[in-house]
Amino acid sequence: MTQAIVDILNSRIPENDEVIVNGWVRTRRDAKGFSFLEINDGSCLANLQIVAVESIPTYEAVKNAQTGASVSIRGKVVASQGKGQKWEIQADEVTLVGQADPETYPLQKKRHSDEFLREIAHLRARTNKFGAIFRLRSRCSLAVHDFFKERGFFYVHTPIITGSDCEGAGELFRVTTLPPGAASKVEDDFFGKNAGLTVSGQLEGEMLALALGKIYTFGPTFRAENSNTPRHAAEFWMIEPEMAFADLHDNMDLAEDMIKYVVKFALDQCRDDLSLFDKFVEPGLFDRLENLLADKYERLPYSQAIDILSSSKKKFEYEPKYGMDMQTEHERYLCEEHFKKPVIVHDYPSSIKPFYMRLSDDGKTVAAMDLLVPKVGELVGGSQREERLDVLIQRMAEMEMCMDDYWWYLDSRRFGTAPHAGFGLGFERLLMLLTGVSNIRDVIPFPRTPKNLEF
Ligand code: 4AD
Ligand code: MG
Repeated sequence: MTQAIVDILNSRIPENDEVIVNGWVRTRRDAKGFSFLEINDGSCLANLQIVAVESIPTYEAVKNAQTGASVSIRGKVVASQGKGQKWEIQADEVTLVGQADPETYPLQKKRHSDEFLREIAHLRARTNKFGAIFRLRSRCSLAVHDFFKERGFFYVHTPIITGSDCEGAGELFRVTTLPPGAASKVEDDFFGKNAGLTVSGQLEGEMLALALGKIYTFGPTFRAENSNTPRHAAEFWMIEPEMAFADLHDNMDLAEDMIKYVVKFALDQCRDDLSLFDKFVEPGLFDRLENLLADKYERLPYSQAIDILSSSKKKFEYEPKYGMDMQTEHERYLCEEHFKKPVIVHDYPSSIKPFYMRLSDDGKTVAAMDLLVPKVGELVGGSQREERLDVLIQRMAEMEMCMDDYWWYLDSRRFGTAPHAGFGLGFERLLMLLTGVSNIRDVIPFPRTPKNLEF
């Protein structure tokens, strides 16, 4: 029976059982009359030790197995004599499945820089660090689904190809079948109108929430944002819940609960992988994560946040002023130095927020919220939506938007409109928060950033 290393090392396979284990050689050490192979199959951080004595018929394969080679081992689970592991395999048969040339295989056993590993993103998942990141990514994705499922949310799939720029920031990647450079008309294009990759599933998500009540999307999102920062990717995964008959406070509660749920899940269920980050990436990580669970997150209006920033003694690159979009340096100051915990800033001036946010009674601010966290800055952006048709139309007119393009969106306010709210959480940024990894390029297997489309 083929077994995963994680099951063997966690004592889920009885002693002396005959097993087959497949994996990649991390190291080989030869001694007199036998060899040790350390192999990893990706199922967990730890390697499994294989002991092969020279009397087995396939010993030649063992002697040829280089770092990086794939092997298949048939043998017995036995208690390990060595320190560090409870179980090892006494090999009866070793098959060298795929060799890795030691002269050219780039992942020889030593520490490599993140920059170098980005250049070999096709191989980096075989290192301890990236294996841990991608296992954590998988588990936390499923934890997000569990969170919503437990609360009665439906998972909906919103389109990836769309005609509407939800955020109005002009960051849509164009989708076209017209030949490059040709002076063709948009009517001749595949859809007969301008099309792009979605920057958010929100607008379509709202339509589903106004039918199913509580929904969420979790899918790839694209932004042609030419900012080469450690927090922006051109392709990232966003989680976007939307709730009907809900307001901004319900929205803040949901965002806070969701983050705490995933942090707790990671601490409880992914401890082995997280320990790597605590040791090598951010010493003290476990304390920082525990801290994210400790208190209720700070909530304050934007105007108050600006007051705190302007009266602080901190020298900012951009001077904080009412009416400006907060920079990462401001966001981080608020949660890292001032409040020392996550902060939800709400009620932003309408001038710096998109058309769909609900106008407050003061006529100047909208029911917006950004959730800011230490290390990362903005993790969540959301709002209560403008459900009043007349107010929405007026705002769209002020922003010179083409109403005809949004006839369907406006319909939802014509027929059975209801207060509703939702947010978007960047999944890569959540992983950065969980691991202490400081560059978004290192929490997604094949990052897409300006001038970078390898793999
Ligand atoms: O604040 P944003 O732009 O909000 C929206 O798109 C809303 N339509 C969401 C909603 O209300 N349904 O983006 C939401 C989050 C950000 O807080 C950030 O975490 C992440 O998406 N994000 C990015 N992550 C990585 N790379 C980028 N270029 C990102 N842009 C936004
Ligand atoms: Mg935002």
